[in-house]
Amino acid sequence: MKRRTLLKAAAAGLISANLPSLSLAMSSADRSANTNGEEHYDYILTAEPAKARIAAGGDSDILGFNGQFPAPVIRAKQGKPLRVMFINKLDEPTTVHWHGIRIANNMDGVPHLTQPPIPAGGRFLYEFTCPDAGTFWYHPHMNSVEQLGKGLVGALIVEEETPQDYHDVVLGLKDWRLKKDGSYLQLSIPREAFRDGTLGTVATINGLQKPTIDVPAGERLRLRFLNMDSTRVFNLSMRNETAHIIAIDGSPIAVPVPLDVHPTGAGMRLDVGFISPTEIGKEIAIFDMKGRFGVEICRLKTVAPSTKTSKKVGIPALPINPIPAPQLDAAESLSFVFEWAGALSPSDASGEVDHNFWLINRRAWSDHSHQNLPEPLAALTLGKSYIFELHNATPHHHPIHLHGLIFTVLESDKKDVTPFHTDTILLEKNERAKIAFVADNPGKWMFHCHVIEHMKTGLMGYITIA
Ligand code: C2O
Ligand code: CU
Ligand code: CU
Repeated sequence: MKRRTLLKAAAAGLISANLPSLSLAMSSADRSANTNGEEHYDYILTAEPAKARIAAGGDSDILGFNGQFPAPVIRAKQGKPLRVMFINKLDEPTTVHWHGIRIANNMDGVPHLTQPPIPAGGRFLYEFTCPDAGTFWYHPHMNSVEQLGKGLVGALIVEEETPQDYHDVVLGLKDWRLKKDGSYLQLSIPREAFRDGTLGTVATINGLQKPTIDVPAGERLRLRFLNMDSTRVFNLSMRNETAHIIAIDGSPIAVPVPLDVHPTGAGMRLDVGFISPTEIGKEIAIFDMKGRFGVEICRLKTVAPSTKTSKKVGIPALPINPIPAPQLDAAESLSFVFEWAGALSPSDASGEVDHNFWLINRRAWSDHSHQNLPEPLAALTLGKSYIFELHNATPHHHPIHLHGLIFTVLESDKKDVTPFHTDTILLEKNERAKIAFVADNPGKWMFHCHVIEHMKTGLMGYITIA
C-alpha cells in the first residue's frame, strides 16, 4: 500500500476502526500491485451500522460511511483519477452515487440502471476522474429514505488543478427524524410525502446541533455548505455584507455576488467566500431564513491562525469548470411537466394506498419497480445541444437533479436569472424554467427530485444519451 493511500485511509478513520476490512482490501491491493505497479486505492469506504450521539438524550442506531457520522470527507484532484474501494457492511444491498460528478455512466452508482446492486457483504471499486473542481457529495441510491435518512451522506471535495487562496470550511447540513432519546420517529409520513416531504426534528451541522465552529481569524474562508438532508430547503444567509457566493452546486460563478438569502434545496450546495474578522473570539452567526426572521443554524468563531498569513483583501472568483456551452440556436427543446397525482388517485383499484404521488410527463416511477426499468423520459443524441423546458405544475417546491451532466439555467418565470451552471434546480411551486446543456456524456442518467420521498413516490425518471 502506498504512503498516500495509507494516509488517506487513516484520515478516513479506517485504520483504527476497520482493521479486518482494511487488511482484506490491502491484500487484494497487494495482489493487483504484483501485476500493476500503479495499483492503489485512494480511499477504502464502508457502509455499516453504527451508534452515534446525535440527539441530546441518547445514542442513535445510524448507518454510517466507515461507521461514522459525519462521514469522511473524500478529497479528489480535478482531472486526476480517484479510486474508492467500497465495501457493503450493511445487511441489505446498496450502491454509492457521486452527486454532481460528470462521471462515466458505469460508475454513477444507480442500481439496475448503471450497475447491479452491491449485495450485503459485497464490494465494488469505484474508479473515476472528476473533470470539474468544486463541492460535491456522495450517497447511496437504494432504499434511500432509510439509508440517507440514517446517515449515509458525505462530502466529496474536488480540488482545483491550481490551488486557490482560500481556507476550506466544510459545513454538512442534515436533519434527523429522532425522538429526544435518540430513537427514530417514522422516517416518512405519507401525508407529508405528498406535500413538501417529512421534515427532521434534530438539525445537525457536521453531526452537531448548532455548533460553534473555530475558524482562523483574518483569513479568507471558503464556506462549503452542503445540503445533505433528504427534505429541507435551507434559506442560507449570513447577514454580513462581506459574504459572497463563489459557487453554486459545485460550479463556480464568473463574478462573485453578495450573499443575501440563497435557497438551497435537498442535494444542493453553496460555496461562500468570506473574510473572517482579524479579532480573536469574534462570532459570526449563520442563518436559515424563514421569511424576515432568521433561525441560527451554527456560528463561526475566530481563533488565532496557525500560520501567519498576509492580510486578505477581496473575494476572488474561482476558475470556471470546463463545461461545454450549449448551442442555443441549434438546440432541440423538450418539455418536462412535474405533476401531483396524489390528490387524484389516493388509492388503486384494489383499495390499496397508491404510493405514487408524483408524475413526470404523466408517468410515475417508484423505487419498487426499479428492477423493471421503465422507458426513458427522453432519448438524446450524443453531442447535440438540448433545452429542457421544466414546468412544476404542483403547489410544492422540487429540487430537480440530473445525473452525469451539468446544465445551464437560462431563465425562469419566477425570478431574474443570470445564467449559471448547476446539477440541481430548485423549482418553486408553479415555476417554469429553461435549462440547457450539451448531451456529451453517453449513458442512462437519472432525472429526479432530490426530496427523497418525492423520488421514492414517483418523481423519478431517466434520459438516455447515445
Ligand atoms: Cu444526489 Cu440521484 O442523486
Ligand atoms: Cu446525482
Ligand atoms: Cu419533489
